[in-house]
Amino acid sequence: LKNRTLQELRSKIYEYVSGESLSEHLGVSRTSVWKYVKELKGEGYAIESSSKKGYKLVSVPDLNAYEIAHGLKTEILGRKVFFFNSIDSTNNYAKTIAIKGCDEGTTVVAEVQTSGRGRLGREWSSVSGKGIWMSIVLKPVIGPESIQIITLAAAVAVVKAIKNATGIETGIKWPNDIILDGKKLCGILTEMSAEIERVNYIILGIGINVNHEGDDFSQSLKHIATSLKMHINNTDNLVKEQKSVDFRRSEIIKCVLFELEQMYNKINSGMNDVILDEWKNYSVTLGKEVKVIGKSEYIGIAENITQEGRLIVRRIDGVKEEVLSGEISIRELMGEGKKAES
Ligand code: BTN
Repeated sequence: LKNRTLQELRSKIYEYVSGESLSEHLGVSRTSVWKYVKELKGEGYAIESSSKKGYKLVSVPDLNAYEIAHGLKTEILGRKVFFFNSIDSTNNYAKTIAIKGCDEGTTVVAEVQTSGRGRLGREWSSVSGKGIWMSIVLKPVIGPESIQIITLAAAVAVVKAIKNATGIETGIKWPNDIILDGKKLCGILTEMSAEIERVNYIILGIGINVNHEGDDFSQSLKHIATSLKMHINNTDNLVKEQKSVDFRRSEIIKCVLFELEQMYNKINSGMNDVILDEWKNYSVTLGKEVKVIGKSEYIGIAENITQEGRLIVRRIDGVKEEVLSGEISIRELMGEGKKAES
C-alpha cells in the first residue's frame, strides 16, 4: 500500500492530492495514508503536506527499490530487487539467495559495500551513495566453459546503457573493464556455481563509479579510476553553471538491466557471434600494444578474441598467445606500467 500511495502521488507530481481521495483510492483510513506518507518521507521522498490541500510529491530519491521498479522495461532482470543501505558485498548476498533458489534475474543493490570485491582477489572501493553496486543472479542454459561470453556481453550492455542513460561514450578493455578518459569507470565480477556440464547459477556483479568527485577515490586509485560526474566536470566545452550534475543512479540501473536482458536473450539463443562483434566494436584493446601481466609477462599486439572470449596476442617474436583471463595493461591508453585496475 505504501507503493500504491507513492504511485498515486507520482501520477500527480508537483500537485496536491487530498488525503481524502488517497484514502478512497487505496481503501484505507486517512491515518494510514498519513503513516505511509511519513514512511515515504523517511525514505527520501520530498512530500509537502497541507492540512487543507493534502500531499504534494516534489522530488524522488535517486536510488531505492521503488525507483528501480518504476518504468523498468525488462521481463526477467530486476523484477525482484533487494536494496540495502549497507552490505558487505552484493555478490555475497546474491550468492546466498541463489543457493536458496531465488528467481532468475533477482538483483541486489546497495548504497555502500563494506567488503566490495574485485577481480583477482582485489578489493573494490564502493563508497556510500556515489556509485552503482549491483549483482544479478542468472541461470543460463550453457556449459561452464562458456561463462566468459556472459562477462563480455555484460560489458557491452553496460557501455550501451551508459550511452543511453547519459550520452557518454565509453570503451571496453579486455576482458570487461569499462574505460572512460583512459581510466577505469566500471568493473564486472562474474562468479558461478557449476557442475561439469551445467551452470547452476551465475552472479554478475557490476560496479560503476557514477557521482564520485576526485576526493572520493583513495590516493592509489585517483590516477587510474574515474566517474561519470568527473568526466562531465572535466569536459572543457561545458559552461561553468552546467558543472556538478548528479546522475540518477536508478535510471542508469534500469538501462543496464534492459540492455543486459537483450544481450542475455542473445546468449540463450546461441547468438554468440553477434555479441563478439559488438564487443569488438566497443573494444579499446584490439589493435593496441599490450603487456600481459601474470606468471610469464610479455608484450605484444592484441589482435583478436576467440569464440570463447580469449585474447589473442601476437608477441614481438611473432608467436601467438591466447590469454584466457587475468590482466593486461594497454600502453597507449594507460601509460606504460600503469594498470587499469581499481
Ligand atoms: C573488477 O575487479 O574490475 C570487478 C569489480 C566488481 C565490483 C562489483 S560492485 C558490485 C559487486 N559486488 C562486489 O563485491 N563486487 C561487484
